Amino acid sequence: MTYLVTGGAGFIGANFVKYLLKKHPDIQIVVLDDLTYAGNLGTIKEDLKDPRLTFVKGDIKDRKVVTEIFEKYPINYVVNFAAESHVDRSIENPQVFLETNILGTQNLLDVAKKYWTTGKDAHGYPTYKNGVKYLQVSTDEVYGSLGATGYFTETTPLDPRSPYSASKTGADLIVKAYGETYKMPVNITRCSNNYGPYHFPEKLIPLIIKNILEGKQLPVYGDGSNVRDWLYVEDHCKAIDAVVLQGKVGEVYNVGGHNEKKNIEIVKLTISTIKRLLEETPAYRKALKKTGDDISWINESLITYVTDRLGHDQRYAIDPTKITNELGWYPETRFEDGIVKTIRWYLENQDWVKEVTSGDYQKYYEQMYGNR
Ligand code: NAD
Ligand code: DAU
Repeated sequence: MTYLVTGGAGFIGANFVKYLLKKHPDIQIVVLDDLTYAGNLGTIKEDLKDPRLTFVKGDIKDRKVVTEIFEKYPINYVVNFAAESHVDRSIENPQVFLETNILGTQNLLDVAKKYWTTGKDAHGYPTYKNGVKYLQVSTDEVYGSLGATGYFTETTPLDPRSPYSASKTGADLIVKAYGETYKMPVNITRCSNNYGPYHFPEKLIPLIIKNILEGKQLPVYGDGSNVRDWLYVEDHCKAIDAVVLQGKVGEVYNVGGHNEKKNIEIVKLTISTIKRLLEETPAYRKALKKTGDDISWINESLITYVTDRLGHDQRYAIDPTKITNELGWYPETRFEDGIVKTIRWYLENQDWVKEVTSGDYQKYYEQMYGNR
């Protein structure tokens, strides 16, 4: 089977590529990634030594690039991770979100449809090769925001509230439209917040880890009471793998681990875990910017409450019953273990952090947090 994995040099896409290579011996993967600020070839550098993996630099909106891939490789599955993914950036500059997330998705669908079509049925609908599928990696944010109770199910009405989530909803709708209008074999997965290795340090958990190690303040938006439903990235990868191979065509699957946490809890837990790991394993202290034996400054006084995100969704929580019942998927990594694994990974991979933050990151940080 040959996979086209778009956005495979980003956080979840790269984890998915690593997961596929481990899990399926007979596989070919083509990664298409434009290497925006969020993409880093270094993340899959070791994997690229594997002859089963090919990298193409390019934009998912580019008809020519996507066509060349379909001409050259017998693509069975498209798994579309490529996106502008950060809500705060979408508030500053919405347009690129619409361009990449909506038009890019439509371009991928259109080229895949062309190459997968075998003819027409009696009603005029296209017919497709066997063993092909387009999977759109979507988000729980398309459902909007919850109050204190309740869960998002696959039938919860779409109610996006940020430019990012509106663009992801637009993408979902165009995927659904290709499924309905052209009977194209598609699936959509909608996952909650991921965490784990290779997470770009603009997102809450890796940003907090980076700031602690640099002795910087830890910016918590509003009063820190917003709730996110955290899932270890490898569990998300397993869910996507299951949906590609066993998901019923045309269906949406919610993915989440029943692991709701207030932001402030996440920040406090990250502080205490880093401190404990630095005490247990003094070698990790080389990740600290400040030298010296005293690490008593790593405490909750680093927390600073800053101006809230505009339109900040209060709470997300996924009901994953459908994917569990239909495909036997369940989250395997408990949060208590996943967060320790993640923090250890950052302590051990400071070179990666330096590499991905060597470009415009400092400018971004100043712009985003300078006057907050
Ligand atoms: P990311 O920002 O870390 O990675 C995105 C990748 O897409 C990068 O490698 C980037 O270079 C690439 N890319 C961006 N624009 C492109 C374009 N025009 N053409 C080709 N490549 C392009 O994002 P992520 O956190 O890994 O998220 C991946 C997908 O999963 C996104 O679609 C996101 O909406 C979805 N998602 C993310 C989460 C999460 O918690 N991170 C949760 C649910 C769903
Ligand atoms: O729910 C899935 C979504 O999760 C994905 O679709 C998005 O691509 C992904 O970025 C993520 O969106 P969030 O906005 O929830 O993630 P982020 O890490 O940006 O923020 C998590 C929470 O922490 C949110 O309530 C905002 C808050 N926050 C974030 C940052 C960066 C802070 O309090 N301080 C910060 O500095």
